[in-house]
Parts: sequence; structure tokens; C-alpha cells
Amino acid sequence: MQKPEPIDEQIILDNTKYIESDTDLKGIITGCNDYFAEISKYSREELIGQPHNIVRHPDMPKIAFKILWDRLKKEQNINLAIKNLAKDGRYYWVFTHFDFKRDINTKKVVGYTAYRKTISNKVTDVLLPIYKKLTEIEKTEGMEGSLKYLNNFLDEHDLTIDTLLDDFYKLY
Ligand SMILES: Cc1cc2nc3c(=O)[nH]c(=O)nc-3n(C[C@H](O)[C@H](O)[C@H](O)COP(=O)(O)O)c2cc1C
Repeated sequence: MQKPEPIDEQIILDNTKYIESDTDLKGIITGCNDYFAEISKYSREELIGQPHNIVRHPDMPKIAFKILWDRLKKEQNINLAIKNLAKDGRYYWVFTHFDFKRDINTKKVVGYTAYRKTISNKVTDVLLPIYKKLTEIEKTEGMEGSLKYLNNFLDEHDLTIDTLLDDFYKLY
């Protein structure tokens, strides 16, 4: 599916609602709620069967998704702030929390569910410049460069990736 051209216009979310989606182990969307369709401007039919990067925004650094997938593979939850791209080119920020879907008998993970809520400007104002910097670095130095920058940033601020995410979560 052709990606929309991003425009600098934010979609404001209803803070009483969750944007929910289910995926298989590869991140292919297997289900979603009506609010996801309403906000992303894609119909459920357009969303189901597509990779979740259908709403990936170019301002999001690759390293954020690497950290996400590393966590999911280790069956660890993560609270990640994500800027998403709607079909009309506008963006919306969400705090995303993940759950593991397990086979009833084997208890093995067979997919993931994401729950997303609105995020305060207090968080996005701090986060956007960091994401932008990481995205810039990735253009020339790839993910090796952004990982190095992120590790230096964490060391300088005496943080780990978990305490950094926790701090953002508290701000929210
Ligand atoms: C349950 C679940 C929900 C996801 N939700 C989003 C999302 O809202 N936005 C997004 O850009 N990526 C989301 N992802 C990550 C995508 O699968 C993908 O890794 C990311 O968009 C980067 O795409 P790329 O590796 O093709 O660049 C989600 C993954 C899972 C497993």
C-alpha cells in the first residue's frame, strides 16, 4: 500500500479511549477495534492482513522498534511512546503497552495485543528532539550509530532504557 505524505498536523485523541490492535508473531495485523480505524483513517478491511508498519511515521527512529521487538521476543512488556502516521498524512502520538496472546494448551506466545492511549505534550516535547536526533544519525550511520548515541545519552544521564521509559511513563 502506498504511504501517505506526512503533514505537520496532529490528530488529538480522546483520552477515555484505547486504540487496540492484535498482531501475529511477525507484526501482521490480525484484528483491531473501531477506534484504531477511526484515528488511522484506514478501514478495518484495509488494516487487517497488513504489517503494522502501515502506520509507521518517518520521524520514528528504527532503534525504537528494535528495542520493542527485542523486548517482545523476550516476552517482556514495554511502554513505548510512538508517533504514528494516519492515512491522511496527519500524525498522532500514543503510549503503547503490549500484551502476549498465548495458546491455551501450550502457553506459547502466538501473537501480541497493543493498547494505546493519548500522551501528554510534556512527554512528546522531551521525546521528539531525541527521536529526531536518532533518525538523523540513522540516515548516515545506521542503527549502529543510533544505538551508540542512545547508550551515551543513557550513560550521561545515569539512566537505563527501563528507567528512561519509566520516567516518560511517569510524566504521562
Ligand atoms: C502488537 C504490535 C503493535 C505495533 N504497533 C505499532 C504502531 O502503532 N506503530 C508503529 O509504527 N509500529 C508498530 N509496531 C511495530 C511494527 O511491527 C514495526 O516494527 C514498525 O512499524 C517498524 O517498521 P519497519 O521495521 O518496517 O520499519 C507494532 C508491533 C506489534 C507487534
